[in-house]
Amino acid sequence: MAVVKILVIPGSLRTGSLNARLAAVVAHEVALAGVDVTRLSLTDYPLPIYDGDLETRGGVPRNALNLKRMIGSHQGIIFVTPEYNSSLPPLLKNAIDWVTRVEERGETKGQVFRERAFALAAASEGRLGGSRCLAALRLVLTGCRATVIPNQLALSFADRAYDDNDRLKNAGDAEALKAMVVQLIDFAQHTM
Ligand SMILES: Cc1cc2nc3c(=O)[nH]c(=O)nc-3n(C[C@H](O)[C@H](O)[C@H](O)COP(=O)(O)O)c2cc1C
Repeated sequence: MAVVKILVIPGSLRTGSLNARLAAVVAHEVALAGVDVTRLSLTDYPLPIYDGDLETRGGVPRNALNLKRMIGSHQGIIFVTPEYNSSLPPLLKNAIDWVTRVEERGETKGQVFRERAFALAAASEGRLGGSRCLAALRLVLTGCRATVIPNQLALSFADRAYDDNDRLKNAGDAEALKAMVVQLIDFAQHTM
């Protein structure tokens, strides 16, 4: 049986990003589960803010097509994202918006979201750990008719969440991470 492939996408480009750090820890947990894992940076997929006139004039940008294909070559996707004003950051929303506009031969718009499993994680210095962002992102993805697994990780006080070996100090956080990864792999296997 083919091995499931998981893609981890951080929702921040910031140097020293708490979410990029958590994305690395998430990817490590996926690798420990014996599954293929890739972590990308949206730095490699720069996109203009979505504008229908831009799309009418020039079509969907190449980077949106490339990102859609990258997502399409994995069965499970994990977004690891900051919370901005109780919602998801424009970087991530814009990337999702553009990807929903891609229409490749033999596919309908947004099909890539409907045929794989998604998991959500957030890191914040605050007490809520970005949980409102997770609710907002879940709404966006279910609106795309994506399968978003129930288990998720909202990492509170993320600036002091790790030990010296970059492992999550809090047992509840570590368990939530593991449960999310196990459930995503299970759902992703069913898409193969
Ligand atoms: C515009 C903006 C809005 C923010 N809103 C929230 C928020 O609603 N909830 C929260 O927990 N943190 C909020 N923050 C703080 C971010 O969680 C914090 O900056 C975090 O480190 C950003 O993620 P990163 O380190 O991965 O870049 C906000 C930050 C910015 C820049």
